[in-house]
Amino acid sequence: MNGMRLVGIGDNATVLTQKARGEGRRNPFVSNSFKQANRLVLDLTYLLEAPGPGAIHRKDFDTLIPKAMEAHELLKENKGDIYDKGIPMTGWQDMPVRITKEHLSRIVESAQELASKIDAYVSLGIGGSYLGIEATIRALTHQYFNQLSKEARGGVPEIYFLGQNMDPDYFRDTLDMLDGKKVGINVISKSGTTTETAIGFRIMRRLLEENWGDRARELILVTTDPEKGALRRLAEQKGYNMFVVPDDIGGRFSVLSDVGLVGLAVAGIDIEEFVEGFKDMRERCMNDDFWSNPCLVHAVARHLAYQKGKKIEVVATNSTALYGVARWMEQLFPESEGHEGHGMWVSPALYSEKLHANGQMVQDGERNILETFLFLREHDNRVGIPMDEEDLDGLNFLPQNNLDMNFVNRMVVEGPAYAHYKGGVPCIVIEVPRRNAYNIGQIYYMMERSVAISGYLLGHNPFIQPGVEAYKKAMFALIGKPGFEDFKKEMEREKLKRPRIKL
Ligand code: PA5
Repeated sequence: MNGMRLVGIGDNATVLTQKARGEGRRNPFVSNSFKQANRLVLDLTYLLEAPGPGAIHRKDFDTLIPKAMEAHELLKENKGDIYDKGIPMTGWQDMPVRITKEHLSRIVESAQELASKIDAYVSLGIGGSYLGIEATIRALTHQYFNQLSKEARGGVPEIYFLGQNMDPDYFRDTLDMLDGKKVGINVISKSGTTTETAIGFRIMRRLLEENWGDRARELILVTTDPEKGALRRLAEQKGYNMFVVPDDIGGRFSVLSDVGLVGLAVAGIDIEEFVEGFKDMRERCMNDDFWSNPCLVHAVARHLAYQKGKKIEVVATNSTALYGVARWMEQLFPESEGHEGHGMWVSPALYSEKLHANGQMVQDGERNILETFLFLREHDNRVGIPMDEEDLDGLNFLPQNNLDMNFVNRMVVEGPAYAHYKGGVPCIVIEVPRRNAYNIGQIYYMMERSVAISGYLLGHNPFIQPGVEAYKKAMFALIGKPGFEDFKKEMEREKLKRPRIKL
C-alpha cells in the first residue's frame, strides 16, 4: 500500500513562510499598513458586570486609575521598589529603543555562522533563560519543526531545549534525536549556577569535546552575566563566543536581550521585526492617557479581578502555536506577583482541548477565576471541511455556508468567552492578528509592563524571586553542594520533626 497523499490540501503556509525567511524575504514590518493590520487589540467586552459574586464595575476602574497613573510615572522614572542587589531592574522598559542595529547584526552574524555549521541547536536554560525562546519559536514555526527537512525549515538547524528539567529519560531521549548530527549549543544562565542548566551543559560539553576535541569551542555559545559567575569564568578560560544577560534585566524580562535573540536568530526568525513589535507596544504603553494605554488598562483589569477574589487566571488560546506564549505568561506573572502572600495562579490552557476538562470548572466551579484569551484571529493556513454525501454527523451546513475549520476555531474563543462570562467569569481578550514576530513582540512588552505596574499596585517588588531562590538553596543542600552542609543538617532536623505519615 502506498502512503497517504494530501489530496486536495494545498501547501502549508507556515512552511512557505519558513522557506521565505530562509531566502531572506521579510515582512514589511516598518510600513504603516503592516502595522495597522497587526495591531494587538485588548478587548474588554466580557469583563465588566459578570453575573454573580465579584463583578468588576466601571466605577472600580475610576477608583484605581489614580494609583495606576502614579505607578506609571514611577516606572517611567525607574523609581520605587524595583531594586535587586542595588540595581534597578527596569532595563527592559527602554530596551526596545536602546538596542542598536549593530548589536542585532552581530547577533544575526554569530547565529548564522553557528547555524551554517550544525544540524541541530540545543538551547540550555531554565525559567527566563528558556521559556521566551521556546515560546517564540513555537509561535512562529511549524509544530513539527524538527521533523521537517532542512529546506522546509528554511535552511536552519533543528532546535531542542535542555536544562529546563532534570528528567533523565527526557534528557536521554533528546540525546537520541541528536545522535549522528553536528550539534551546536547555547548555554544561558544569568547566575551561571543554576543546577539543572549547569548539569545539562556539562553533559553536552563533554559530548561535544569527545566528538570534536578543541573544535568543540566553535560549537558552544555562552550567554551569562557581563562580569561575574562560574559560567563566565569557564567561558573566558575556554574561549567560547559570549553573549550577555544585562545586569538590570531579570530572567523573565530578558527575551529581548541576547538571552532570547540569539536562539531566535538561529531559528531564522527576523529579530528586527521582533524588536519593532516591542518598540511599538512600548510607545502605546508610554501614553499618559489611561484609556489609550493597553498596559495600564490590562494591569488594572487584572488587579481589580484579583481584589474581587479571582485568584486564578486561566490564559486560554485557540492556537497551538501560541500555547507557549501562555506558558511564558504562566512564568512571568506568578514569579513576579507571587510574593508576600499575594498573586494570581496562572493556568495556561489550549482550547478546545481544555474545554473538555477544566472547562467545566471555569463555567461552573468556584467563582475565583479570571479568564484571559490569547485569540489568534488569522491562522497561517485555512483548512476546509468537506461535504459528505450521507451527512450522518449533520455537519454539511458548514461547507454549504463556506465555513471552514478556521471559522469554527474562532468560535472556540467567542463561544467560551460568552458562556463563561454568563457563568460569572470576567474575561479579557487579547486579539493577536497573525503569527509573526511583530505580534509576539507586542504581547511580550505589554505583559512585561503590565506585571511591573501590578507590582506597584500590589505593593511589592516584582523583579525579584526569593521563592525560587529558596528552592535552589534546598536543592544545593540536598545534592551535597559544598558550602550548604549546615543548611542540609537543618533540613534533616526539620524533616525528623514532621509527623510520619507514609502509607
Ligand atoms: O525570571 C527569573 O529570574 C528566573 O526564572 C530565572 O530566569 C531562572 O531561575 C534561571 O536563572 P539563571 O539564568 O540564573 O540560570
